[in-house]
Amino acid sequence: MLTGVSLGPGDPELITLKALRVIREADEVIVPGENAGKIVRAYREPKVVEFPMGRGHEVAKRLAEEIADRCRREKIAFCCLGDAALYSTFSILAEEVLKIAPDVEVEIIPGVSVVFSALALTKTFVKKSLLITVDFEPEVVAVLKAKNSKEIAGKLREMGYEDLKFIERLHMDGQRVSDEIPNEASYFSLILGVKR
Ligand SMILES: C[S@@+](CC[C@H](N)C(=O)[O-])C[C@H]1O[C@@H](n2cnc3c(N)ncnc32)[C@H](O)[C@@H]1O
Repeated sequence: MLTGVSLGPGDPELITLKALRVIREADEVIVPGENAGKIVRAYREPKVVEFPMGRGHEVAKRLAEEIADRCRREKIAFCCLGDAALYSTFSILAEEVLKIAPDVEVEIIPGVSVVFSALALTKTFVKKSLLITVDFEPEVVAVLKAKNSKEIAGKLREMGYEDLKFIERLHMDGQRVSDEIPNEASYFSLILGVKR
């Protein structure tokens, strides 16, 4: 198993209980540099693999060659600052591992992104929309309050987001995650749209 563990934005109190459990239970914990290392070291000694700017793919490829087969039998945790799904080195590593060993189970433990920490710190409330991007052509959009799910799905498709995921009551009783968009949904629902 290869797990991408979110460490939060740097405040050691902003790590999740689940991330801590995974870090404690892993056979090996890897961090992409000392900022992440400092957070993990409070719980156990990680292996530090530096990902210098511009050499991320090369380092990820080499690391993947080292751990891909082990991920079949062992629990390897790769820890990232912020959230491990958002612009993270974990995404490149997971891709490289799956190229070598497509049967490896990959999971992500979500966490507090620098974006949410910055909103909180500056007391900035999002009331309509929040665009998180590096290039102003977002490849993934998350539409919250997706009660009018069909209408939202239609708009997303018009905008070129063909790959849609409907998510309702996540981590609650009656959780529903589907590629099919229902006619209507409850308040606790969101739609992710991905441009491929
Ligand atoms: C590769 S992204 C990683 C984002 C991270 N996975 C997250 O969810 O917060 C790195 C970018 O996040 C922002 N960032 C990360 N940590 C930051 C910090 N402590 N202060 C300000 N910006 C930060 C910067 O824009 C930086 O270029």
